[in-house]
Formats: sequence, structure tokens, C-alpha cells
Amino acid sequence: MSEAEQLTDEFIRVCELGELSVNEPALAEINGVRVALVRDGEDVVRAVNDTCSHANVSLSEGDVDGCTIECWLHGSRFDLNTGEPTGPPATAPIAVYPVRIQDGDVFVSVPSS
Ligand code: FES
Repeated sequence: MSEAEQLTDEFIRVCELGELSVNEPALAEINGVRVALVRDGEDVVRAVNDTCSHANVSLSEGDVDGCTIECWLHGSRFDLNTGEPTGPPATAPIAVYPVRIQDGDVFVSVPSS
């Protein structure tokens, strides 16, 4: 296994599931990377890079709509499963990170920056 694969497989405990409000993005810094966490009504948590791909704007300050998060500055939405923008002006995807929930705790795997 390569070093990159080992880093990708490293899950870091971020918080308790109960600390995340449903459909309210939360910001976490993991391995030096700003990550937006979004919990849905089914207690699934998704983790994406917090910085909009269009400009240096924090996506965790935006709104969640279904399975997308909206950038508050120009309104691009990003799919929380794929990171792909669903509309302009952003055209590049954001990174999506694997999440595990174990014993009520949220773990996220983010490669070191
Ligand atoms: S800064 Fe996010 S869409 Fe422009």
C-alpha cells in the first residue's frame, strides 16, 4: 500500500454525531484542511472541502438544500455526494471525504495537506 493510500484510510474522530444539527453545516479542521460537515435527517454525515472552488469562500456558511450545499456568495451549489457543482459560476468540483460513524462518534478521512 502506498503512503497516499495509508493516509486516505486514516479516519480521525471529529465530534459526536449529536453535536451536528440536521442540515446545518459545521466547520471542522482536519489534517490542516477546512472541512464542511453536513448531517442529514437519516443521521448520515457528509464531509466536503469547505472552500468554494470559485473563490475563497467558506461553504459551511452557506445553506443546505437536499443533498447540496449552496455557496452564499454567488449561489453555486455543490453535490454533497460527488462534490460536483450543479450550476455556475463554479465549474470545478470540491473534494469529498469518506465519513464513518461509530458508537455515536463521527470520523472523517482527509489526506494531509
Ligand atoms: S465564491 Fe462560491 S460561487 Fe462564487
